[in-house]
Amino acid sequence: MKPYKEMTREELMQEKAALEARYKEFQDKGMKLDMSRGKPSKAQLDLSNGMMDVLNSGSDMMCAAGVDCRNYGIMDGIPEARHLLADMSEVPEKNILIYGNSSLNVMFDTVARAMTMGICGHTPWGRLDKVKFLCPVPGYDRHFGITEFFGIEMINVPLLPTGPDMDMVERLVSEDPAIKGIWCVPKYSNPTGVSYSDETVRRFAKLKPAAPDFRIFWDNAYSIHHLYEDDQDVILELLTECEKEGTEDMVYKFISTSKVSFPGSGIAAMAASEANLADARRWMNYQTIGHDKLNQLRHVRFFKDMDGMHEHMKKHAAILRPKFEAVEHALEQGLGELGIGSWTNPKGGYFISFDAMDGCAKKIVAMAKEAGLVLTGAGATYPYGKDPDDKNIRIAPSFPTLEELKMAAELFVVCVRLVSAEKLLEQ
Ligand SMILES: Cc1ncc(COP(=O)(O)O)c(C=O)c1O
Repeated sequence: MKPYKEMTREELMQEKAALEARYKEFQDKGMKLDMSRGKPSKAQLDLSNGMMDVLNSGSDMMCAAGVDCRNYGIMDGIPEARHLLADMSEVPEKNILIYGNSSLNVMFDTVARAMTMGICGHTPWGRLDKVKFLCPVPGYDRHFGITEFFGIEMINVPLLPTGPDMDMVERLVSEDPAIKGIWCVPKYSNPTGVSYSDETVRRFAKLKPAAPDFRIFWDNAYSIHHLYEDDQDVILELLTECEKEGTEDMVYKFISTSKVSFPGSGIAAMAASEANLADARRWMNYQTIGHDKLNQLRHVRFFKDMDGMHEHMKKHAAILRPKFEAVEHALEQGLGELGIGSWTNPKGGYFISFDAMDGCAKKIVAMAKEAGLVLTGAGATYPYGKDPDDKNIRIAPSFPTLEELKMAAELFVVCVRLVSAEKLLEQ
């Protein structure tokens, strides 16, 4: 089939009529599918069921520090969990602080602390007239949700195949002291799957922000979430690069086992300089008498070490890979030659990012919903839910079964084609 833009009006009308009939068939199937969030499937969750058996009433509940994990204590996390999460974060143990069940919660908490108490003795952001954050786009909606919640002004920065547009980041950060942070998902980024180049990481480490309390919020949520064994992205470790530049206080790294074990029941951690961790502990000391050490113990006994985690991640990949490939195949088959959309083929992470023709994303998502397929809301990948071109759609292939996914991808293709044909006919 030839590209839509080369079709005559009559050809487009015929195409539209055929697509309407196919769309109706989908509607009649009464599908009910949710591809809106990047949730692991049941089969993936089952992979970690053994974690339920590593502790029972007869188990030794002592951690390496000789403390009973059933009781209060050890604010920083049990030594063996610190060891595991430090390895996962690629930092020394002195640079890791274990938190509770969710890294997003740690990010929220960190912004809340900056707003109310200030960072390392600086004026609390909440007392300033204006606080701004840089937001590489498209990005993770929940990051943008946190900064919007606290009334922080968000500035879009294009996400390039190498990472955020660093010319723009360097210029804005060095000129404007109201810019206090930037959201980053450096590896297999949500939603594009982009991993930052070495040059990008080095340029981050060399930033010269006008604000002394500027922080890079480095959310390495997909650090070990590869889809392929023989083709994996590797990124430079930011804290090490910052240490070389004497800028180690500029970064907060976040990590969790959410999509390794059980989302919402994993372990989260922050990796940062010793000064930043001391600052965080001052707040934490009032916030809790300690996080869930039994969960920490369960994780360490189950995974043992990073080799154990990597082996486990291969099992996730075996489930996820065919799903990503099924969606990519359906997009290629259904849209490949038509010139009405482009998409990413990520090597890891949880999402495929789809760009429709300008002004089409909202209609595509609405149309899919009417036929029973719930996608992430159009616009969600941008601050304030506003995609200036109304073109980006996040596809989350993990949750449905492969069969469901194939059907969902076909429906998605029909919606993209129909909305695009209508758009071109209007012009
Ligand atoms: C980039 C990113 N960060 C954080 C999270 C949430 O992590 P957690 O479950 O540890 O809060 C997600 C979940 O989708 C994510 O995509």
